[in-house]
Parts: sequence; structure tokens; C-alpha cells
Amino acid sequence: MGEPDEQRGGAEVSEPSDAAPPAADGAPFVETALRQRFFQASGFFPMPIVLLCTRSADGAPNLAPHSLCFPVLGDEGHRLLLVITTESKTAANLARSGRVSVNFIEERPELFASLKRLAAPVPTAEKMADCPFRLLESKRSSARDGSAPPPLVAEAEQVFECRLVELEQRDEPLERRFLLEVEAVHLRPRWARALEEGGRGPRLCVGYGFRHASKSWLARPSVMVSGPRLRPRFELEVDEPLDRVCESFRVELGRAECPIVGKLEPGMLVLGVPDAESRLWSPVLELLLEPTPRGTRLRGSIGPHPHVWTTFIVLHLLLAICGLAGLTWGISSATIDGRYWPLGIPVVTLMLHAFVAGGAFIGQGLGADQMHRLRSFVDDVLQS
Ligand SMILES: Cc1cc2nc3c(=O)[nH]c(=O)nc-3n(C[C@H](O)[C@H](O)[C@H](O)COP(=O)(O)O)c2cc1C
Repeated sequence: MGEPDEQRGGAEVSEPSDAAPPAADGAPFVETALRQRFFQASGFFPMPIVLLCTRSADGAPNLAPHSLCFPVLGDEGHRLLLVITTESKTAANLARSGRVSVNFIEERPELFASLKRLAAPVPTAEKMADCPFRLLESKRSSARDGSAPPPLVAEAEQVFECRLVELEQRDEPLERRFLLEVEAVHLRPRWARALEEGGRGPRLCVGYGFRHASKSWLARPSVMVSGPRLRPRFELEVDEPLDRVCESFRVELGRAECPIVGKLEPGMLVLGVPDAESRLWSPVLELLLEPTPRGTRLRGSIGPHPHVWTTFIVLHLLLAICGLAGLTWGISSATIDGRYWPLGIPVVTLMLHAFVAGGAFIGQGLGADQMHRLRSFVDDVLQS
């Protein structure tokens, strides 16, 4: 998605005169020019994509996605640095009230889509009118302008409540740098447990900040995809023995808040989305698990529900039979009594084949978010 030019936060990139040289044949790297804001303009530096919540002068909460959010190490306090374009409402609200909540959202397509919409440069009332995030009141004391402290986003995995310590106004680019004191960190209980006892952490939204080439803040890590295939397959191998892998899946699937449902049978695991979210196009992930000398091999395939899959196959078979019968009839009636219209039957069945196949690909597109969720679940469990 392209953002208007004025939203870019002033990432300055020199013109192509200092463009990167082409890679020498076979060289693993090319050296890029060191530009201003090297982390945005000369390379890819992973940064969080957070939702900043501030209060407008009338007390209304305002949410906006932001990436330039860096921890600052030093002997004093627990500090964060935010870099925000001067004209944004967040910058004005934070400068006035001195308070912001920094909300870290899970990397989930539907949450990310909602987060992205909050980047629209429209008045607070307009963008918050259909905001799908729920807000929880903060328990901290009032802000310095007397307003209530900014609320916390209920869907966040982690929230930092912060107070302004120092504000620097920059003219070139026109932006404000906010040095913040982190006053409180709120974690979901499972992440607090993982922090203390070990285990995997949340999968948070990450981006690479503003990209000059696309005029967009939404430069994101790429996802490995394997072309437009109806039943994409993948294969993984882990060092853990088969029973430990099965146990990990059993434990994760047993959690009350697990967004996936699954059936574990000897040597096989079938994963899907909960009934409430299940649609005709919802995918199912089948995982064959087999022991190897090193650990466990997992062969996965993601496709439509077996009933839907069988219906597609039966439809294609019926159409193929009708097409072949029509072709035979068409050829014989054209040669014997000069009637050509039956030759239209195979043409119509070919068109219907294309229609059914098109329907399948549309269904795959509609189920892409759920497919991503199923695939990420497997990765998450194996990494834990
Ligand atoms: C993923 C993403 C990251 C962003 N990061 C920043 C940022 O670090 N600094 C900034 O000034 N704007 C950033 N923006 C643009 C702001 O979200 C945008 O200017 C928004 O309109 C500000 O809303 P506000 O006026 O309610 O504060 C980002 C946008 C997106 C989509």
C-alpha cells in the first residue's frame, strides 16, 4: 500500500548517482551506498510496528501505527525513542499531554489490516469510528494537561505505558523526537510466563520502516510462497524425537486460547480453524509425521476441507466425462449427418472446467489468512 508522500517521516535518499553497484558474478553481497537514515535507506532493519495511543485535546483516544520506536540504553531509567512527523496528531497529543501507550500487536493478517487502516490521515473521530480495537482504561495517574492517561489496546500482546521526558523538534526532516520513560510494561500472562520460565515469545508485527522506492511505510518481511497451487506442500525436519513433537502439538492445541483446532492420530495431525470461523473455503493442514535418525520429518499439505476437495474432483470428473461424450457425439454427428452444434458441448464443458478451477483459486485467496495462520502455528510449535 502506498502512503501519501507527507507521511514518510523524512527518510532521505540520495538520487541514483550513488546507486549500488551491480553484484560481481557469483558474489554473495553488493555493497550499498551509506545514505542518511542508513537503516531505512541503505538496508533492511527490522523494527516493531506498534500502535501508539494518545489522547486528543478533547480527551478522545487516537491510535496510529508507528515503526520508528527504539530502546535507548543508558544509566538513567528505562527509555524509548519515538520519531514522529510533526504534522501527525500523535506528535501533537504526546507533546501536549506527555503520555502515550505503546501497543504491540500480534502478527495476524486481520489485526494487521485493521492496524494499517489507522494510518489514514483523517480526523481522530473519523478513523476511530470504525476502529475494531477495544480500549482498556489505564490505571496510571492523569496526564500533565489534566487528561486521563491514554488507554491500552485490549488485543495487544504487550503494552508499554510511557511518559515524555524530552522533546526535540527537527526541521529537516520536519519531525519530533520523543524521549520517553517507560513507566509500566504489561504482558499477557503466557508471555510473562515465557519471560520468566523460558519458551517462545509472541509473534509481533515487524516492518522495515519507510521505503523511498514504494513511498510506503509498509515494507514488510517477505513470506515464502509456492506459486498458485491448490494444495501447497512443504517439508520440515526437526531434531526432536517424534513423541516430543506430538506432545508439543498436543499441549499447544489444548490451550484455551489456541486459535487452531486439531486432531492428532498416530503419525498424522490434521489442523483447521475453529467452527465459528470455518467457511466453505477454509483450509485444512494435514501433517504426516515420521521418525528419522535425526529426529522427526513433517510432510505437510494445505488444501480445502476433504468434502470440498472431493466435490471439486467429482465436478471435474463429471465435466470431463460430459466433454468426452460430447466430443464423440459431435464428431460422429458432424461426419454422419452434417450437424455441428453437438461440438459445442466439449467447448462448454471446457469453459465450466475453467469456471470451477477459478472458483477454487478464489476460495484459496479468501482462505489465505487462515492458511497463513495454520502454517505459522506449525512453525511456532516447532520453534517452541
Ligand atoms: C506500518 C507503519 C509504520 C509507520 N511508522 C511511522 C513512524 O515511525 N513515524 C511516523 O511519523 N509515521 C509513521 N507512520 C505513518 C503514520 O501512521 C501516519 O502518519 C498517521 O496518519 C499518523 O496518524 P495520526 O495523525 O493520528 O498520528 C507509519 C505508518 C505505517 C502504516
